[in-house]
Amino acid sequence: MEKNIEVIFGKFFGYKRNRFYVEDVPVRDIVEKWKTPCYIYSKNYLIYQIKKFKNSFSRINSLICYSVKANSNINILKIMKENGLGADVVSEGELRRTLLAGFSPSKIVFAGVGKSEEEIEFGIKNDIFCFNVENEEEINLIENLGRKYKKEILCNLRLNLDIDIDTHHYVKTSRKETKFGLDLQTASKIIKRKYKYAKIKGFHLHLGSQIKEISPYIKAIEKVREFSKNINFFPEIIDIGGGFGIPYSVKDKSLDIEKFGERICREVEKLKVKLLILEPGRFIVGNTAIVVSKVLYVKRRKEKNFVIIDAGMNDLIRPAFYGSYHLILPEKKSKGKEMKADIVGPICESGDFLGKDVKVPVDIKRGDLIIIGNAGAYCFSMSSNYNSRRRPCEILVDGKKEIEIRKREEFEDLWKGEI
Ligand code: LLP
Repeated sequence: MEKNIEVIFGKFFGYKRNRFYVEDVPVRDIVEKWKTPCYIYSKNYLIYQIKKFKNSFSRINSLICYSVKANSNINILKIMKENGLGADVVSEGELRRTLLAGFSPSKIVFAGVGKSEEEIEFGIKNDIFCFNVENEEEINLIENLGRKYKKEILCNLRLNLDIDIDTHHYVKTSRKETKFGLDLQTASKIIKRKYKYAKIKGFHLHLGSQIKEISPYIKAIEKVREFSKNINFFPEIIDIGGGFGIPYSVKDKSLDIEKFGERICREVEKLKVKLLILEPGRFIVGNTAIVVSKVLYVKRRKEKNFVIIDAGMNDLIRPAFYGSYHLILPEKKSKGKEMKADIVGPICESGDFLGKDVKVPVDIKRGDLIIIGNAGAYCFSMSSNYNSRRRPCEILVDGKKEIEIRKREEFEDLWKGEI
């Protein structure tokens, strides 16, 4: 059942004497103290991923801005910062989080298709590195705010290059049907206009998420080269965004990030830019966390078995929202017979499932623990209070130690502001 789980977990999560561990700590001990459902992160896996990513792009002058939307816990952000990363933010809330985590504003890029005036102003006041601009009206707004604050503001234009990628429809962001970026005609019009305060230094071209192929990146960089030549504007900065995919199932291949990096750097070198910006989210955190949940009930039916657990779509929405696959394992390894079951949550929706037709021990019962993998990116950060459920606690393991990095919400948090 748990064949080759190293593809997902590296050396940082796995079974020892038939029980599931995060680094040197048994999951059982953690949930005894903190209850379920509970997110658990491996600090050393996170650091390993950061280093791997950094090394892969080291042949070129680069700024690696971790994409905060993937996981925005301040304690996770601090690890990113301590390991030399900058941050990619898309809202004032994310920007405030990164400042609280101690990131230098000179390493923060502000992206987003709909930044409000207040958000732009907050970024300017805090002297962030640059804005990724997606709209003609947005750059006019930045110009006006620059005038107001007497500050030059570095801007990169986000281009919509109409490139397709092989990923979920919802996370393709560079097709012309999507709301993102500037079409090339508008971008060239903006570049010709010459602003006094909004200083356009380059281009941003995030393509989408969970990309496993290198060809869209290469195609995008080639398109930028051609575009620059056509309009006679040669960028100093190129930001290729994030999107680097990870394995979700044990059958998935890991992306060879070293090869990827090497190839992308070679292509970027042709542009003769001074700086390459990258915005990885999922690649760094995606597989460095699990959710641990308890079996509440088992429903055995002729047509289908259901294992009802205490984590639901409010805690981890990806399977319900995108139909995504997440690796699910029992906390206690068993050599006995298995059966297939849907792993479902307690929420009042049929879409509330964590896994379909998952192999589980045939004697699975109330009180057993279930491990849900691939829970580091877009899991806690997309969680909600639906069904008036409190969001879970988050625990960080570092070797033999574990610390709580976010408390489970209190019931009072649910109606804060209502009474
Ligand atoms: N930069 C920009 C401008 C982005 O929009 C994103 C992700 C990233 C960087 C980071 O992408 P990553 O390296 O993590 O793929 N909720 C979805 C993923 C949405 C991605 C949104 N943008 C999911 O759960 O799969």
